Amino acid sequence: MAEPTLRPGPVVLVIFGAGGDLSWRKLIPAIYNLFLDKWLPDEFAIIGVDRREMNLEEFHDHLLDGVNRFSRRGKADPTTWSDFTSHLAAYISADLSDPAMFNALKGMLADFDKVWDRRANYVFYLAIPPTLVPTVSEQLGAAGLARERDRERIVVEKPFGRDLKSAQELNAKLRSVFDESQIYRIDHYLGKETVQNILVLRFANALFEPIWDRRYVDNVQITVAEQIGVEHRGRYYEHAGALRDMVQNHLMQILCYIAMEPPVSLDADEVRNKKLDVLRAIRPIRKEDVLNCAVRGQYGPGHIDGKDVIAYRQEPDVAPNSNTETFAALRLCINNWRWRGVPFYLRTGKRMAEAISTVSIQFQTVPHQAFPASALEQPWQPNRLTLEIQPDEGFCLHLHAKRPGLRILLESVDMRLTYKEAFNIEPPMAYETLLLDALRGDASLFMRADQVEEAWSIVDPILEVWQSFPGGFPNYPAGSWGPEAADSLLRVDGRSWILPVSPREDAVER
Ligand code: BG6
Repeated sequence: MAEPTLRPGPVVLVIFGAGGDLSWRKLIPAIYNLFLDKWLPDEFAIIGVDRREMNLEEFHDHLLDGVNRFSRRGKADPTTWSDFTSHLAAYISADLSDPAMFNALKGMLADFDKVWDRRANYVFYLAIPPTLVPTVSEQLGAAGLARERDRERIVVEKPFGRDLKSAQELNAKLRSVFDESQIYRIDHYLGKETVQNILVLRFANALFEPIWDRRYVDNVQITVAEQIGVEHRGRYYEHAGALRDMVQNHLMQILCYIAMEPPVSLDADEVRNKKLDVLRAIRPIRKEDVLNCAVRGQYGPGHIDGKDVIAYRQEPDVAPNSNTETFAALRLCINNWRWRGVPFYLRTGKRMAEAISTVSIQFQTVPHQAFPASALEQPWQPNRLTLEIQPDEGFCLHLHAKRPGLRILLESVDMRLTYKEAFNIEPPMAYETLLLDALRGDASLFMRADQVEEAWSIVDPILEVWQSFPGGFPNYPAGSWGPEAADSLLRVDGRSWILPVSPREDAVER
């Protein structure tokens, strides 16, 4: 339940693209949950803006439909929903480049200040296609809605450009209107409980930090595997691909949390500076090395959960000879004292064997193996800490133990904590956390321009090389762990991917 000191002050949330998919599926269900948990102040209003024609009542009905379908709490209670609709103050159906609309909006916002007799904050949430972002930002500026740094914020969804150059241009456009401190760039992975827990696990426990470096860690593996295909997003995905869609943002953010130095405080810029240091320390990939440290794949037809699924190239809005990758794997090296020589392997893909995201910190083997070979029934497995990001949130420490009996026999055992068992609380969705932070003006979990650009500069050479010749697609069947070349990426280093095992399956095996 809400802590009064963390509740935002009076605030108006203006959602551009309020009639779209993101608002329907994610934003409004998240805000409704914040409302249910009493995180929102009494002086709170939402104004929806969209090109789509709807009156206020239709807007309410549309949002209720989204909440009923997608809220983690299931269907809305009619009385509570009706209370909530008193905050859904207006719906403006207009062209997002129309200056008159922005002036009218300015008038509406000023009215809230009068009615509430308070100086409210304004949060402009851009749930719109990237091509419209500069337009809306410029119009907000022209209407005088970007001047007051302490009360006006803009929230921008990914993608932030499609390479370094376009990201720099976009950032320059946003910053010609808003100050960097007013710009909240969303990476929804930063709102995930398990991603935030990386910092707690690392820096609130004395146990890990002394061994969290090149002296004890052999390698780090980050896997974000999805079972879903490209669904209805072929048009977008054809121009994105796995590297842009997942690696440049979500996987890089996870990597930063794993590799960053301890922050002095949780101040937004302190944490973001430390993350930026990681990105800056990543050894730049030379074009001639791309094929040795990056692998791409695209799914062909296959089977998932006993069902036949089609190839990427057969998906709607996808070219029959598409060269877009639906899988990417990288080996990255971080050139600093802590991590020099420790490879970070990252992989992500659609239509993989399982929907599971994990980070595995693989430790080195013991310096001296005192146990005779006869004590081992299976090959020696070094210790490993696995952070289970989703779907079953938790973490697991893989250790060795003596199997009870008269002989010395070593066996690998798991010490596992699942959030569900430990806390018995349903965690908030990432958007709940991020929206509340945006309403409160806490930018810690949002990306700064320099981070975004640095992350692009890491993947840019790969994109350039990949674009220059066909990928030999499709090269992995749907329902597998990706192309063979992804295994070779580790095999040449004498390693292999750790197969993520969900606790549920583990439990079944036992
Ligand atoms: C989005 C990508 O950013 O993240 C999608 O555009 C992907 O392609 C999604 O499916 C994954 O998010 P989550 O929270 O389901 O892991």
